[in-house]
Amino acid sequence: MRKLKHLRHLMSPLDFTVEELDKLMDLAVAMQNDPEKYAHVCDGMRIATLFYEPSTRTRLSFESAMLNMGGNVIGFHSAESSSVAKGESVADTIRVVISLHADIAAMRHPKEGAPMVAAAHSTIPVINAGDGGHQHPTQTLGDLLTIRSLKGRMDNLTVGLCGDLKFGRTVHSLIEALVRYPGIRFVLISPEELRIPSYVKEDVLDRNHIPYEEVIRLEEAIPKLDILYMTRVQKERFFNEDDYVRMKDFYILDAAKMELAGEDMQVMHPLPRVNEIAVEVDNDPRAAYFRQMEYGMYMRMALIYTLLELGEESTC
Ligand code: NCD
Repeated sequence: MRKLKHLRHLMSPLDFTVEELDKLMDLAVAMQNDPEKYAHVCDGMRIATLFYEPSTRTRLSFESAMLNMGGNVIGFHSAESSSVAKGESVADTIRVVISLHADIAAMRHPKEGAPMVAAAHSTIPVINAGDGGHQHPTQTLGDLLTIRSLKGRMDNLTVGLCGDLKFGRTVHSLIEALVRYPGIRFVLISPEELRIPSYVKEDVLDRNHIPYEEVIRLEEAIPKLDILYMTRVQKERFFNEDDYVRMKDFYILDAAKMELAGEDMQVMHPLPRVNEIAVEVDNDPRAAYFRQMEYGMYMRMALIYTLLELGEESTC
């Protein structure tokens, strides 16, 4: 296990200041531009990916990030395939991976706050890779780099968030991160039943005096947007199958709706996509969701590198 001067975890995007986020984005860009330079900085190190909830993208992104820097991966990808099925606590699981020489861990869990419990029992950095309907900070890191790279700025943007704003943790984390930049406005596009939770409205939007409007029709919102962030209806968080079926195809972004958008509007989506973006949109130059995936990987590389304090002896 690597000896660290300051043990730091990532639970929420607010764990980094705006200046630290800028540095992280600069590092991610440097890594993208010169992969050779970083190809061995994690030689002999391990990341533990502890995924208690299904994930392909996020887990593969963490694993690719570590492999790109010469490190290795241990872990599991569902609660059923681990000792959790036997009743092990997250506190014990983190102790186990530490005794197996993991240097850093990424944890996804269906319960809000579970990665924080693991962090409280950990001597290695723990990264929240998504906790229930709460937060998804590393998705946000990639989203911020996508916005900065494609729009050339983080301020004075009108951001439309569309779909499941109630259960969508990527949306909650992104809003928290973006309100720290000047001139941000939101258009919250959702059916009545999937509106943004009131704690996000009161504690984040109202408290920071952020202008926003709530609308139901996507067509009404599209012409005003710099960014359209589409989301999947979070099937696994519904209590009732009928409600899910009623909501799941509420929004479908297609080529006809894209005609209403400005020529610089970027379409983002954390993936996986279900029906909410028609495949015909993929060829539109404004479709940014696959590039967003790649930016996410570079940000996870930069994050691992930073939390493991690798820059302090090699680069920077
Ligand atoms: C998101 C998630 O898990 O919250 N996906 C991801 O991390 N790539 C969004 C989603 O599952 O809809």
